[in-house]
Amino acid sequence: MSIVINESESIISIHTKNTTYQMKAVHNGLLVHTYYGPHMNGDAGYALSYRDRGFSVNPYDSKFNRTVSSDTLPLEYPCEGSGDFRASAFSVSRANGASGCDLRYEGYEVVKGKYSLKGLPAVYADEEEAETLLVTLRDRDAGIKVVLQYGVLPEIDVITRAVQITNEGNVPVVLNQTASACLDFVSGEWELMHFYGRHANERAAARVEIAEREIVIGTRRGMSSHHENPFIVIAENGADENKGQCVGMCFVYSGGFSANISRDAFGTTRAVMGLQPELFNYPLNPAETFQAPEAAMVYSAEGFAKMSHCFHKMISEHICRGPWKNRRRPVLINNWEATGMTFDGEKILSIARKASELGVEMMVLDDGWFGARDTDNAGLGDWKVNTEKLGCTMGELADKIRAMGMKFGLWIEPEMVNEDSDLYREHPDWALTIPGKEPILGRNQLVLDFSRKEVVDNIFSQISAVLDDCRADYVKMDFNRPIADVYSRTAGTQSRGKILYDYMLGVYSFMERLLERYPDLLLEGCAGGGGRFDAGMLYYCPQIWCSDNTDAIDRIRIQYGTSFCYPCRTMGAHVSAVPNGDTRRRTPINTRAVVAMAGTFGYELDLNLITEEEMEEVPKQIETFKKYWNLLHNGLYYRLTDVIRNRKEAAWMMVAEDQSEALLNIVTLDATGNGPNRFVRCAGLDPEAFYKDEESGNVYAASALMTIGLPMPRIKLPGIPWNPTPGEYESFQIHLIRQ
Ligand code: DGJ
Repeated sequence: MSIVINESESIISIHTKNTTYQMKAVHNGLLVHTYYGPHMNGDAGYALSYRDRGFSVNPYDSKFNRTVSSDTLPLEYPCEGSGDFRASAFSVSRANGASGCDLRYEGYEVVKGKYSLKGLPAVYADEEEAETLLVTLRDRDAGIKVVLQYGVLPEIDVITRAVQITNEGNVPVVLNQTASACLDFVSGEWELMHFYGRHANERAAARVEIAEREIVIGTRRGMSSHHENPFIVIAENGADENKGQCVGMCFVYSGGFSANISRDAFGTTRAVMGLQPELFNYPLNPAETFQAPEAAMVYSAEGFAKMSHCFHKMISEHICRGPWKNRRRPVLINNWEATGMTFDGEKILSIARKASELGVEMMVLDDGWFGARDTDNAGLGDWKVNTEKLGCTMGELADKIRAMGMKFGLWIEPEMVNEDSDLYREHPDWALTIPGKEPILGRNQLVLDFSRKEVVDNIFSQISAVLDDCRADYVKMDFNRPIADVYSRTAGTQSRGKILYDYMLGVYSFMERLLERYPDLLLEGCAGGGGRFDAGMLYYCPQIWCSDNTDAIDRIRIQYGTSFCYPCRTMGAHVSAVPNGDTRRRTPINTRAVVAMAGTFGYELDLNLITEEEMEEVPKQIETFKKYWNLLHNGLYYRLTDVIRNRKEAAWMMVAEDQSEALLNIVTLDATGNGPNRFVRCAGLDPEAFYKDEESGNVYAASALMTIGLPMPRIKLPGIPWNPTPGEYESFQIHLIRQ
């Protein structure tokens, strides 16, 4: 039993294999959060502090007891207007415009299995793998019922949270904020890790002190964004990969979000995560219910690696779905970086032909195959194959590629429209634009109003006609601008919050329909690279294009940041041409491959144009990927160097769960003549065992590998007796086998 209730003391404890989460109702039903940490039996309520503190107000029913204040208690779901002046999780405006609410605990329910959320992505589990806790809070006066939903997956130490709000009154109300999770830590010195960036440089891992202030991260872009990822870590000062407490919070949603992290005057640290509140206002009529998306949490007492492993398991096994979730994905080649939109059918076939000769398994045709799409100023919305450009139908092109022994994949961007398109000329009201205001453009395109079913239906039927014809094995679904003008040309409400939320439901319904119609389809998410790299998208797409930046060295940093929450098997990563289009950097083709193998692995260049020596490497790389695929995608992933601070070498390793083998990956980031000895410290091996380097035959004691480390490999060059250190950007893969 993972959920244990102490009825007489009103204590609810949620236990996972290694952790406990606890809440308790005090003082006429104020629900306080008392504990999140290593497994614990007992009541952590002793840590609550009661004092009469000036200017910390008291609930009316405690008026003769000034020691009780919502302002200083760690609240499980703090709401605006309850006397808690810190960051809130919930805010509602009543019919008279006043906002304020006083939620009190009423009861709970425990249900077998994990709850699901209608129309929204959520962690799923078999009935015997999970339990659900529903906690009811109510403000009788305002007629608001709040059900806090908790999902418990004990084996992987994951606890999820979501919230349902029902208007039980007889007048409409407006929800101004409905966060999904709030966590208070009454003690400890904590830091915040967040994963920020920009287009072509996503998810840089940053770590900042949480002082007496509020830190707000998030996005107002209507997408989870390149700029902040909906994942944060609250880490004890000094915590690192292998030690120290940390709590990860992952928002399972692909639209705007916010995380507010603060430390109050009495030392309580609070983290609130959920829908972006500034752009959220959601009218709720009597008897209507609003469902907030889910946030998933992991506590680790043993540092970041352990936390990441739990999230990786959650995403691999309980978020990703469908036949591709555990299958090796085909090694693909995509034409985007080779051709842009300037291609014809022959060019695509020539790229495919060479790729198939070298062992690539799938050809993906990217942007530019439809409508008048020869530049990115036109064509979006017109999903009619440009047969003149291709010289054939899409079905015929796919057949020619299949005749080469390859699968076939196609790029789409369903949520967008160009003004220069037949769709826009016919239905200008289908774009999100504000009457009387010139629309904000992004890549010269507008966002279609996916909050409207008829819009989604139209795009779905256009695109499915093409997919029916070519029987695509794979689809890359792109999204290339943020949402700026939030106005739906419908008769209904113009609440921004409702439109943005309904928009996401429309996008999710589109993907669900694709997967229903094409049950074997491999769907890859994309948003100008990694602008919608989130657990919400991963519920539909088991992989997401990690970044438009394919430079191997930049990618190491991007994939490093991504790996804190998301497993390698979800990260779209390709070998591309040098000099790299973004950085002009030249890296050896094998280094590009080692980095891409820490992702889904594929190619994105014209293989006809590489050197003979490089061509010889490609089949070997594909063989290596196939040989190590199980380790690469199912092994436990360890970050061995902090690639943000360590500019000398990057190293990571994948270790089989039974510790029988491991793959150590190293890329040098700089070079120096006659430099000091350098070592890479391994992790995750069986400490009592010996491991053999498959290539050299050297045998090492695992404890030594994890303490001293493995000396950086040296280079053997004919005629040079001193075995120099490797040059800049060289790479090594060392397969260690337990003896
Ligand atoms: C952005 C994607 O990230 C690229 O890979 C490519 O598909 C382009 N869009 C096409 O417009």
